[in-house]
Amino acid sequence: MGAQARSLAAVEDCARKVVERHNVSEIRIPVLERLELFQHSSGETSDVVEKQMYSFVDRDEAETTLALRPEGTPGVVRAYIEAGMDRSDPEQRFYYVGPMFRRERPQKGRFRQFSQFGVEIFGRADAATDAELMVMVDELRRELGLELNFEINSLGDAECRPRFRQAVLEYGRAHLAELCEDCRNRLERNPLRLLDCKIDVKLAEAAPKSEDFLCDNCRAHFATVRELLTDAGVPHAVNPRLVRGLDYYTRTTFEVISTAVGAQSAVAAGGRYDGLVEALGGAAVAGTGFAMGVDRLALALDAARFDSRADAALAALGDAAMRRGMALAAKMRAAGLRVELLSPGRGLKALLRRADKIGARYAVIIGDNELAHESAMLRDLKTSTQSEVAQDNLIAAISGGRIS
Ligand code: HAM
Repeated sequence: MGAQARSLAAVEDCARKVVERHNVSEIRIPVLERLELFQHSSGETSDVVEKQMYSFVDRDEAETTLALRPEGTPGVVRAYIEAGMDRSDPEQRFYYVGPMFRRERPQKGRFRQFSQFGVEIFGRADAATDAELMVMVDELRRELGLELNFEINSLGDAECRPRFRQAVLEYGRAHLAELCEDCRNRLERNPLRLLDCKIDVKLAEAAPKSEDFLCDNCRAHFATVRELLTDAGVPHAVNPRLVRGLDYYTRTTFEVISTAVGAQSAVAAGGRYDGLVEALGGAAVAGTGFAMGVDRLALALDAARFDSRADAALAALGDAAMRRGMALAAKMRAAGLRVELLSPGRGLKALLRRADKIGARYAVIIGDNELAHESAMLRDLKTSTQSEVAQDNLIAAISGGRIS
């Protein structure tokens, strides 16, 4: 609806602009895929596959089980392999945007249908690619004027990750009686999930840390990612508990957190998934990517800005003021401001009520007195202060105070 739809569109438009500057091209992927695709990629023991998928048996002859996509990565990998790119032209950079579906308990920032904007890069095993993905999110953050925190971790690769997994498994077995039901049930199949458990927080904090198990190559890769992020001016913190809920990650994982959207604070997340293309039947091609929660970013945007709606509501008191007001409003719009010319023939109080209702940052009031002085009364509706401003200076005064 209205303002909400506008914020969602603003996030999507900005994200397109940012990633296209990085030479990433759009890919359109289907909303429906075979259920197995997600079982073989997101992971049988991930919450997404175990509990959250909407699936149904099709009436085709083979009675195929289809699922509404809970995430975009598996569909992009499938399309990439089906097009034969993994063998003919492996280095590809894609982005997608669209609805995803997860059967979760809805709350602020957590929906059963939500929109993701994702990027997937194939054929690049270098640390610069991992860093570049976070740089993209950081550029978006700057353009939207948001404060976000970056958390990163490394899960290791096929060489060192099994040792880390084994250490967590043994730790879990030693504390079996203290684990929550979920962690206990999936310990043998997916011990790493213990680390991001929201219930066993104390146990998770004391558990073995992946950084202590990294092989030399993974350690060097992680150090380079961090150096490049620092060089690019992206502040980040290492979070050893960041294992992610999906199974395909190797090496770098990251999450981007906003403090403005409540408990559901991850606005973007991703990482490297070097084995996934091969696991889904393709060639051994490196992969890495992220997805942003468009709805959560839009919420953060609304929380960060006083108003995503009108910059100014123009109140003209009388016919002559209205003629002047029309011309002024046109000039303001030409300068990129969002302006609503309020209905004539109402008293100032009613006009200010309307300005407030539409969430305008400023009311611009023109009466006989202002007409005579070639000025306007500029009322800041956030601070409830007002001052007389020359009509020629109005645009500068409003643009200067705009939070965007
Ligand atoms: P994910 O962490 O499951 O990762 O989701 C990415 C983002 O989607 C989350 O950080 C969050 O902002 C948003 N999101 C997830 N679930 C919901 C929900 N129920 N309501 C609102 N927003 C939600 C992935 O999906 C991976 N495919 C990311 C990736 C791409 N990794 C590599 N490439």
